[in-house]
Amino acid sequence: MSLVLIRKNAPTDAWVAALAQHCPDVRVHVWPDTGPIQDVEFVLSWAADPGVIASFPNLRAIFSLGAGADHILHDATVPAHLPVARMIDPSLTDAMVQFVMLAVISHIRSYRQLLAHQAAARWARPEPVGKRVGIMGLGGLGTACAAALTGMGLSCVGWSRSPKDVPGVRSYAGDDGLAEFLAQTDILVCLLPATPALVGVLGRKTFAALPRGAYVINVGRGEHLNEADLLDALDSGQLSGAWLDVFVKEPLAADHPFWAHPAITVTPHIASATVPETAAGHVAENIRRARAGKPLAGQIDRELGY
Ligand code: NDP
Ligand code: OXD
Repeated sequence: MSLVLIRKNAPTDAWVAALAQHCPDVRVHVWPDTGPIQDVEFVLSWAADPGVIASFPNLRAIFSLGAGADHILHDATVPAHLPVARMIDPSLTDAMVQFVMLAVISHIRSYRQLLAHQAAARWARPEPVGKRVGIMGLGGLGTACAAALTGMGLSCVGWSRSPKDVPGVRSYAGDDGLAEFLAQTDILVCLLPATPALVGVLGRKTFAALPRGAYVINVGRGEHLNEADLLDALDSGQLSGAWLDVFVKEPLAADHPFWAHPAITVTPHIASATVPETAAGHVAENIRRARAGKPLAGQIDRELGY
């Protein structure tokens, strides 16, 4: 039986080597090679074209190459009964923590402004900015970021669907907890999954509930952000800036207004990435679980969409 790795326009050698080490009894094919199609038990995928996953008649489970599995769930042809697992990888978590620290510290230490001052040979101290961080999405990644932020002495609150118990982090949950969470957030970090309920959650109402001059960091998904509302909030001064790593349409078009906006930092969806050497063990464990008929680690709840 076999696994098909689907990773379009990206290197696959490291994955093939890591899977050979962790799952020596599984034949690995790299899409578009599939071997005999009826032998394919598992797909390990990032952004397969719609219809590709559904073309394997004997699949047991689908594994996302990323922490988000929205690229699988948004393919309406994927059979609803198949278990889908998101990626859980310590290296991916570490990289996300480092990236969120970069964005938060760049903002609170006015790094862009300091670079502009240097370019103008200007000796000037930036004005202090609000430093309270609020994380939307206290899951695997959000919780690790919250721990790192509090470890650096920053105050941090979190918002999730269900209440959490994270040391040093006040937890708010659901629609009822949102306003109170936002009212004490100077720096809003979005680490939510892309579910229908969360489309546009970074929009006018949310921005208006933040303290004036707040800063937004979106490392979740482009669908979370209402782009026009962001530009309006920056124009009005309700927001002081934003760091955006994810976009509805990637790559971001060269003529998109975000690129040249003086208050926006654009990065090309690089906040984090799965590392084959550390992630292949998670895939191997899920292959064992699927074959034993057990729930997968990181299994997506199809009802909730994450
Ligand atoms: P998890 O599934 O572990 O966590 C998701 C969190 O979102 C949970 O705390 C969940 O609440 C919360 N949530 C879900 N729906 C709602 C809702 N309606 N209202 C409030 N909170 C909600 O995911 P990860 O932490 O592993 O990853 C989060 C996301 O980060 C990914 O889905 C992906 O979109 C993004 N990502 C981006 C990367 C990048 O490079 N930019 C890299 C990796 C991930 P509860 O805990 O109550 O279930
Ligand atoms: C992920 C991503 O979901 O890289 O892992 O966006």
